[in-house]
Amino acid sequence: MVSTVSVVFKPESRSISSDIDRIYTIDSQEKSQIETLIGKLAERFITVESEETALACEIAATHLPEGLLSILKVIASGDIRSSYLLIRGFEIDDNAIGGSPAHWDQPWQDRPYLREELFQVLLSSAIGGVFGWRTQENGRFLRHIVPIEAVKDEQLGGSSATTLMWHTEEAFHLGRADFFTLMCYRNREQAVTNIACVDDLNLAENTWRTLRQPRFTILPDKSHTPVENTSEQWKLNAEAFNTIQKMMNNPQPIPLIYGRNDMPLMQADQAFVSALDGDDQAAAALAEFHDALDRAAIHLQMQPGDILLLDNLRVAHGRSIYQPDYGPKHRWLRRVNIANGRRVNFGLRDSQKIRVML
Ligand SMILES: [Fe+2]
Repeated sequence: MVSTVSVVFKPESRSISSDIDRIYTIDSQEKSQIETLIGKLAERFITVESEETALACEIAATHLPEGLLSILKVIASGDIRSSYLLIRGFEIDDNAIGGSPAHWDQPWQDRPYLREELFQVLLSSAIGGVFGWRTQENGRFLRHIVPIEAVKDEQLGGSSATTLMWHTEEAFHLGRADFFTLMCYRNREQAVTNIACVDDLNLAENTWRTLRQPRFTILPDKSHTPVENTSEQWKLNAEAFNTIQKMMNNPQPIPLIYGRNDMPLMQADQAFVSALDGDDQAAAALAEFHDALDRAAIHLQMQPGDILLLDNLRVAHGRSIYQPDYGPKHRWLRRVNIANGRRVNFGLRDSQKIRVML
C-alpha cells in the first residue's frame, strides 16, 4: 500500500535519492554486514549455480541489514506502485573480477567474481527464489550480458547497434519471473537502461479495455532457441525446446494488461508481440501501448556495483544503442530471475489489506 511505502521510504533516510526516486545507497556499516554474509557463503560454495547455494542465500538473506531488507520486502509484496529499486554502493574491484567475457558461454564455477555473484543472489533471494530456464543457458541462474558482435543487431542481450525494445522477461511464458535483478560489473560505454512502469502509462479508457482482452500473441524470443544455446559447457538435446517450439507454432491469444484495475500487471515484448490478424482496433491499441511506454520511460546509466531490481510484472525495460569495443573492459551485466508467486491470487484479496483473502 502507498502508506506502507511512505513509511519505508521515509524522507529522513540518508539512502533515498529523489532524482529517480528509488535509489538505496548501502552505507559502510551495511557494507560490512553484507561482506560478512558473503564471506560465510564463499567459504561453503564455489558456485552460485546450485540448489544448495540458492537455498543458503535465501537463508542468509534474512540477515541482510534491516533497512535494506525492509525495502526489499515491501517491493517483494508486489503491493506498491512503480516497483523498482536501484541499489548502489557495493564496491567492485575492477582488477579482481578479471576481463569482461567475450561471450555469455562461460564456465559456471571457480570464477574470480564469486563475491559479486553471491551479492546479487543474496539480495535477489530476499525477494524470492532465483531460477533459470532450461532453454536459456541450460538453466543457469546468473546470465552474462555482454556485447557480442555477431548479434549486435538482434533483440538479444548481446546486441548493441540496435535499441533493445520494450519487454518484460519471458513475456510469452506463464512461468515468467515475478522480479529480476540486473547487476552491473562494467558500463564504461554508458549504455542507458530504460524502464517504464505500468502504473505510469497514460492511455485512453478504451485502450486499457482492449489491452485487457486476449487479442494479442507474443512469440518466444530468440534467446530460447537452440541456435542461441550452443555451448561448450553442455549439450542440450532438441527435446528441451519442444515446449518453446509449440509456442512458436501455435501462439495463444493473450491480453497485455491483466490483474486488478487498481494494480494492473503487464506482459510486453515489443519485438515479438502482434495483434491478432485483422484486428485493427487491437493493432491501434498496441501502438498506443508502446508509445505510452516511451512517454513513461525512466533512463538509468548503471555503474559498477549497481543492482537494479525490477518488478517483471509491472515494469518493462530496454536498452539504448551503444558502441562496445569488444575488449576486456566492455560492458558487463548479470541477470537473475526471481519467482515469489505471491500475486497468483491477488484478485482474491482485500484491496485495502493485501494479506487478507476474500
Ligand atoms: Fe531483458
